[in-house]
Amino acid sequence: MSHVFYRRMGHSHPRAAWGEGALVWDDAGRRYVDACGGAVVVNVGHGVEAVARAMAGQAAAAAYVHPTVFTTEVLETYSARLAPYVPLDDPCFYYVTSGSEGVEAAVKFARQWQVARGEVGREVVIARWGSYHGATLGALALTGKPKMRRWFHGLFRDQPHVPPPYCYRCSFGAAYPACDLACAQALETEIRRHGAERVAAFIAEPVGGATLGAVVPPAGYWARVREICDRYGVLLVADEVMTGFGRTGRWFGVEHFDVRPDVMVLGKGATGGYFPLAILAVRGTDAEAIRQVHGDFNHGGTFSHHAVGAAAANATLDCLEEGDLVRVAAERGALLGQRLRAALEDVACVGDVRGLGMMWGVEFVACRETKAVFPPERHVGQAVCDAAFERGVILYPGSGSVEGVAGDHLMVAPPFVITEAQIDEVVGVLREVVVQV
Ligand SMILES: Cc1ncc(COP(=O)(O)O)c(C=O)c1O
Repeated sequence: MSHVFYRRMGHSHPRAAWGEGALVWDDAGRRYVDACGGAVVVNVGHGVEAVARAMAGQAAAAAYVHPTVFTTEVLETYSARLAPYVPLDDPCFYYVTSGSEGVEAAVKFARQWQVARGEVGREVVIARWGSYHGATLGALALTGKPKMRRWFHGLFRDQPHVPPPYCYRCSFGAAYPACDLACAQALETEIRRHGAERVAAFIAEPVGGATLGAVVPPAGYWARVREICDRYGVLLVADEVMTGFGRTGRWFGVEHFDVRPDVMVLGKGATGGYFPLAILAVRGTDAEAIRQVHGDFNHGGTFSHHAVGAAAANATLDCLEEGDLVRVAAERGALLGQRLRAALEDVACVGDVRGLGMMWGVEFVACRETKAVFPPERHVGQAVCDAAFERGVILYPGSGSVEGVAGDHLMVAPPFVITEAQIDEVVGVLREVVVQV
């Protein structure tokens, strides 16, 4: 019997042994195409020796020093290299070890910044339904995924949620553009309902992630949200944990919408899975405002600003730059999208195929016309992913896009280095298993 337990408690986990590019092998020698990079994490590919070597070198030199005492050369170098890519003025970075922790650090930063400018009543953070911001209790209060919140409501202070920009199932029963972006407008209503003097921030994923499955907002959505946040002095936090570092075919997801947030949270692709690292990114002037008023940012963590994490991120950035992998993600991702659409066009239970770059979602329906969902107890998304896994293709299942309980989808989000032949293999297997299930 194993002395490890996992989230999927009844699942028998094969033992992963090694990986290369978009491929993973288990210890029985079975080959899998990793078509979702785990939880949409692996961007530069599995088995990149340069990243492993950089981490080993740093671990041998100075693996761990306490972040209240030292900085490290590798962390400073990486931060200076990252700064020009991040769409914030003169940005600076606070390093943590998971996206959830990054989101919570962002909330604390927003709150402290509001207090520093004298807005001491601003404690509310508005999020969206259909979102994912993490599983720790503070992040869960923002995550708009009822299934994950179940049983824990009493343990966190809930935050308000507004409807997501999910045109396939518009919460207002409207159609774009006649809707006049009612979903963005709902943010203004929610701010006014609480009183702007109580609202610190609004947090959202630039392209909807795991909870809805690569939902791309309509044109004008982000510009409207930006206007509303400006009007009411609310900080706009872009949760780029999934969309960052090229996943959508641009360095950061917000770039598709010509909008500059105030605060960003980065994770996953920063190290492509080689180290658990996430990053709170803020404007230098905002960090300085807190320093001047409060002296310190009132947050901490034993493993924050980890030197081995910085070495992994630095080497991952080398790979992204040297391989021009963000452009690759855009081009090969467009091909992936075309192939998915073509292969699933005539499959009656596929209601929608959507996405950007190397981040695609496939939503299942019992009836295309009515968009009726399958009974949740049939776990259709999971069943499709299980069948694909049997055929050696790993996909990322999701459910709950309809009122948090019903609705099935999956994500296809492979490492950027996936080959065209592997894309064809993934799409071919996906079509076959969807028909079979
Ligand atoms: C957009 C977004 N934010 C936050 C998180 C939480 O990150 P982590 O699982 O590293 O805590 C995730 C994870 O999937 C995510 O996709």
